[in-house]
Amino acid sequence: MIYVTKSPKETQELAGFLLGKFSKIISKKALVVALEGELGAGKTTLVQGLAKALKIKAKIKSPTFTLIKNYPITNYELRIRKVIRNPQSAIRKFNNLYHLDCYRLRDHKDLEILCSKEILNDPRNIVLIEWSDRVKKILPKKHIKIHIDHIDKNVRKIEVKS
Ligand SMILES: Nc1ncnc2c1ncn2[C@@H]1O[C@H](COP(=O)(O)OP(=O)(O)OP(=O)(O)O)[C@@H](O)[C@H]1O
Ligand SMILES: [Mg+2]
Repeated sequence: MIYVTKSPKETQELAGFLLGKFSKIISKKALVVALEGELGAGKTTLVQGLAKALKIKAKIKSPTFTLIKNYPITNYELRIRKVIRNPQSAIRKFNNLYHLDCYRLRDHKDLEILCSKEILNDPRNIVLIEWSDRVKKILPKKHIKIHIDHIDKNVRKIEVKS
């Protein structure tokens, strides 16, 4: 699907809508979202929107230096019921949001150390990876890819593939 947003706020709102869709993907592994796009495309803005929808209070910045950051999610079900259309549908419960920035990584081996199998194998984790194109080799086969293109000062084209 392709979406066009005309402000950072619209990108964050889109993230909330996408979260509703993602929470219906039932799997035995973590939900991995690969975020692609140039510097300033809006990857972190999208992550902030997801975090907002999950009522994570911490301020989210690109983890450029820490490389990975974990945000616990409390009472996911209550949060998510507000953003999905059918309140009766089956949803998965996320307990942790992991935010990674691979901009400074040399290659996928670095990521293997940072983002353990344990994190990737836990279905209660949502793992958001900025600059995922640098670590393509170790991304789980099943992941969601979001590519953001800078169209104009405040306009972004956001392509979501699963
Ligand atoms: N429609 C839009 N969607 C998202 N961000 C937008 C939009 N319009 C303008 N912006 C601005 O673009 C910038 C996006 O920055 P952001 O940190 O999210 O990018 P990034 O892709 O994470 O960059 P980096 O690779 O440096 O981490 C912000 O300053 C934001 O305000
Ligand atoms: Mg960023």
